[in-house]
Amino acid sequence: MAETMKGLKRTHRCAEVTKNEIGSSVTLMGWVQKHRNKGAIIFVDLRDRSGIMQIIFEESDVKAEGFAKAEKLRSEFVIAVTGRVEARSGAVNKNLATGEIEIRATEIRILSEAQTPPFPVEENSKTKEEMRLKYRYLDLRRPDLQRNLILRSRVATTVRNFLAEEGFLEIETPMLIKSTPEGARDYLVPSRVHPGNFYALPQSPQLFKQLLMCSGYDRYFQIARCFRDEDLRADRQPEFTQIDMELSFVDIDDVIEVNERLLKRIFKEAIDVDIPLPIQRITWQEAMDRFGSDKPDTRFGMELQDISDLVKDCGFGVFTGALENGGSVRGINAQGHGTMPRKKIDALVKLAKEHGAKGLAYLSIHEDGSYKYTFEKFMTPEELAPVVERMNGKPGDLLLFAADKNPIVWDVLGNVRLEIAKNAGLLDKNQYNFLWVTEFPLLEWSEEQNRYVAMHHPFTMPMEEDLDKLNTAPGEVRAKAYDIVLNGTEIGGGSVRIFQNDIQSKMFEILGFSPEEAEERFGFLLNAFQYGVPPHAGLAYGFDRLVMLMAKADSIREVIAFPKLKDASCLMTNAPALVDEKQLEELEIAILTKNKEE
Ligand code: AMO
Ligand code: AMP
Repeated sequence: MAETMKGLKRTHRCAEVTKNEIGSSVTLMGWVQKHRNKGAIIFVDLRDRSGIMQIIFEESDVKAEGFAKAEKLRSEFVIAVTGRVEARSGAVNKNLATGEIEIRATEIRILSEAQTPPFPVEENSKTKEEMRLKYRYLDLRRPDLQRNLILRSRVATTVRNFLAEEGFLEIETPMLIKSTPEGARDYLVPSRVHPGNFYALPQSPQLFKQLLMCSGYDRYFQIARCFRDEDLRADRQPEFTQIDMELSFVDIDDVIEVNERLLKRIFKEAIDVDIPLPIQRITWQEAMDRFGSDKPDTRFGMELQDISDLVKDCGFGVFTGALENGGSVRGINAQGHGTMPRKKIDALVKLAKEHGAKGLAYLSIHEDGSYKYTFEKFMTPEELAPVVERMNGKPGDLLLFAADKNPIVWDVLGNVRLEIAKNAGLLDKNQYNFLWVTEFPLLEWSEEQNRYVAMHHPFTMPMEEDLDKLNTAPGEVRAKAYDIVLNGTEIGGGSVRIFQNDIQSKMFEILGFSPEEAEERFGFLLNAFQYGVPPHAGLAYGFDRLVMLMAKADSIREVIAFPKLKDASCLMTNAPALVDEKQLEELEIAILTKNKEE
């Protein structure tokens, strides 16, 4: 029978015992990582969240009964050990923080026995992720995940401390709400009391934090859970966490200033990295033109060059055709990749096509300065000389070109640029390149919906300079919106908000909401604005993404305790799942697909 804690008190975590304690008695509790039975002496590596301590059992110290228990130990048994701290008798283990000491056990209790785990609990596990997620409680014992979650907790604490010092109030907003539009699909929760009616889970606290500004709270923050039913990727989960904030009586620079200091503090306190301030700012237009992305990775160059003016009269129909259609021709120079094998280039062409390109033209420059290129039938080397010059092409380089409508050209070259950098090992996880991207377009044309949609959200303020274009050329209006980008990942975004009813109404009109629809969906916000509203602005970080980058992890699943799979299911609990007929009846819900099966 398992023993209990009665009369026993833990004195230290395993790795908290130091050389200073040599000679004193300690009591440690944890999991058996490893046990080696050498006959008269048994070595056990004891593990808890702090690390590992070596324990030595000898019958002369621990008596026959204790020794018999030590002989029974297996991986993942939970034990309590009391013993004397000693300098290591054997070789010092430089890999362990506690490598110079060990505990000579005088007492042991087996608190819990364990079956053989389905995979070893160890660092850098090679176990398949499905298996890890099914047994997440075991996976979470592994030191790398423990470090990640400890880091996550430390970042949250720093955020709370910093924002409290800066006069922010932590205020909770509801989880059962009316749909908040952030562009993704809502998760719905049926109401029992109001059959046929649904709450939405918040995609963000956006409207509530704006209302808190109307109510005079001035500076709000929340580490808030958000829910979005969208296609999942490595940096997206259906439920995720934001560090969300809103400030009154501010403009863009005020938001950026306090957030730069917040980021500096987080990186210094949590991982001892110094972020130089101020963080560079570039406009959305410049980001697209130079990097083909609104979240540029600036850890490497390979910037886009526009060559439209140089090829507008050339004989290559692909180029001139794109220009006649209002598009552009741009290229990147993969320096030193002139001898890239055909297979790798084909993979880049495939990638380009996945991003909407009809093709990818390329040119390699030989050591003697001559070129080889895919469109030799249509352009002479002489015609291409100015192009190569603009691209700063040198012997040994590979130039890649895309011709299409601008958004496709940007997307294609932006992704090809990233892929080449990734393959060439240019993405150094120890380097932290921050960037503010500003002056986003206010609106984006949706082919699917045949109307404008808000690029950030419908409450984002147009730039004052562009207000008159709201009527004449809405597509050209820039927004007072900003994203904070780290190493090519959008870790946060925000905007200055509309606080004038006339501009907000205009915005709804452009987005295709009738006044009745706008009133139906956002009436409470518009009404609140009738009673005195301060100018306000805010921002939200993707907390999981931020911690992922700080932890140098490849996926946000590595920094979330219980993440979901790509299909938004949980392998451990088997959510989502069918519910009882009775529950559905109470909600007055009938399942159509099930009826079909019957
Ligand atoms: P936005 O929609 O840009 O802005 O979200 C803010 C940040 O949240 C992170 N994020 C996600 N992280 C993980 N999984 C997801 N599915 C996911 N979706 C978004 C991103 C993103 O930058 N209310 C506004 C903020 C504001 O205007 O103040 C908002 O939610 O890192
Ligand atoms: P083709 O005459 O179709 O063999 O095209 C010559 C080269 O142009 C090939 O390398 C194609 O991949 C490339 N190409 C085709 N469409 C485009 C495009 N939209 N942008 C850039 N290159 C393209």
